[in-house]
Amino acid sequence: MTSASITTATPLQDDLKAIIAPVKEELAIVETWLTTNLIDDNPFVGELLSQVFQSGGKRIRVAIALLGSKASLTEGRELGRLNIIQAVLTELIHTASLVHDDVLDSAALRRGKETVNKRFNDRLAVLLGDLLFAQASICLARIMNPVVVGIYGQVLGDLCAGEIKQMRSQFNVEVNWEGYINKSIGKTASLFAAGAHAGAILNAAPDSSVQALKDYGVNLGICFQIVDDLLDVTGEATELGKQPGSDLRAGVVTAPALFVLEKDDAAAKRLCELIKTRAIATDEGSLEGISIIKSTGGVEATVNLAGHYANLAKESLSKIAPSDARNSLESLINYVLVRTK
Ligand code: IPE
Ligand code: IPE
Ligand code: MG
Ligand code: MG
Repeated sequence: MTSASITTATPLQDDLKAIIAPVKEELAIVETWLTTNLIDDNPFVGELLSQVFQSGGKRIRVAIALLGSKASLTEGRELGRLNIIQAVLTELIHTASLVHDDVLDSAALRRGKETVNKRFNDRLAVLLGDLLFAQASICLARIMNPVVVGIYGQVLGDLCAGEIKQMRSQFNVEVNWEGYINKSIGKTASLFAAGAHAGAILNAAPDSSVQALKDYGVNLGICFQIVDDLLDVTGEATELGKQPGSDLRAGVVTAPALFVLEKDDAAAKRLCELIKTRAIATDEGSLEGISIIKSTGGVEATVNLAGHYANLAKESLSKIAPSDARNSLESLINYVLVRTK
């Protein structure tokens, strides 16, 4: 699908011009859907929706969905309406999950703006998230493919299960790697995987390509969450658009802390104590936690772990036919590794 008349600049285009080139026009159509077509008739709701969609999300999942769809097409074929809707739906679910996640985390800042829960209240944010999930369901109905409905149904369940797992292990130092990776698959990689391979199903691509794109999405999603967890330790609020240090303060043990805790030394014992006593939730405690992680190699080890999943994502791509879209999916892996926001 092409549309020469649509020239809307997307947030992703600023950083990723070369990467998104193969799907530039489709990305602009998705952007128009998100920022114009979906806006509710009720002016108050419309204003809320435009706040969440016009405040600079990276649209990474949109890029993955469109590039995954394009990479699964035989040469000369163009993306179609269903591919566009699948990309829109993927971003809708992501955005809904963020609006709800900010309620769960009592977060005040998202995409550089006050969160809906901070600006109004939790009840309104829950309802706005639900409204976005409802819009995603309408997209699924338009796609009319039961396999794709099943995939996204599973994603919604995985998202909730991931958040529940995280909530149940706050201030718990017994978190292990298997639990951490599984939680990351539920919270993040499941949607990345759906975004990456559902378009190939709609395009009736061979099973081997569908599976390769799914594996790419899972591995890139895990890598993305690991980098997100790292940025919570190393990032800046102005760049991230959200408050760093939030995971430690909430007693959420992620990769950078796990690398410290798994050693049996003085640093591990001190971090363990900060978490168990909940001192980590204070300004001083979280600063000390961050400093322990930074001074004991937690950052470097986390970068290496993200690199491991990046390599797995790259290997998965080798199983689909070469194309510009495949090259872009590969470049996107590097972008995820080096991103600072
Ligand atoms: C944030 O995702 C939530 C995670 C899965 C870590 P993004 O970093 O893609 O959020 P936006 O859409 O760019 O704001
Ligand atoms: C991802 O995890 C959130 C969802 C997938 C809903 P985080 O809790 O790390 O996301 P941020 O850091 O708040 O964006
Ligand atoms: Mg959060
Ligand atoms: Mg985070």
